[in-house]
Amino acid sequence: MTGMENGVPHATTVSSFSSLSLTPTYAQVILDVSSRLLGVVERTKRLGINLLADHQKEIGTTCAGKGLDKLRDVTWRESAGLPEIADCAGWLACEATELIHVGDHKIVVARPLEIRSSDRAPLLYHRAEFRRIGESA
Ligand SMILES: Cc1cc2nc3c(=O)[nH]c(=O)nc-3n(C[C@H](O)[C@H](O)[C@H](O)COP(=O)(O)O)c2cc1C
Repeated sequence: MTGMENGVPHATTVSSFSSLSLTPTYAQVILDVSSRLLGVVERTKRLGINLLADHQKEIGTTCAGKGLDKLRDVTWRESAGLPEIADCAGWLACEATELIHVGDHKIVVARPLEIRSSDRAPLLYHRAEFRRIGESA
């Protein structure tokens, strides 16, 4: 997941992305209240969802870390004012319409402004490791 504030890109690995409503279309992402990216989303009301492809495990690992500049070695471009990572399996640029506080997380209700998909296979996360579809655990 990506965000942009004052021209600075931010990124965080999340597995909590899912569809929420078909008509009208909404998605959701759930973020820990300690997430730096959550602050960016709360202030800008925008978020980018980059569905990583199965060759992008390094990006998933890097963005699960802390710190600024996680996209330093990643190819991306600006789409709808958000960082869109190159060669992903899918992309959604979203407006954060609601943030719902539950325990130590917040549900971010995301209204898509742009949606793109590709033929690339998605990266999976199973038994604490990034994997490809069909790879045995
Ligand atoms: C596979 C995977 C899935 C994750 N899913 C989530 C998630 O859904 N929500 C969340 O808040 N953190 C999730 N994390 C942890 C964040 O990526 C991690 O805490 C990150 O350092 C937060 O960065 P930030 O403070 O810059 O936002 C996940 C980590 C991994 C490896």
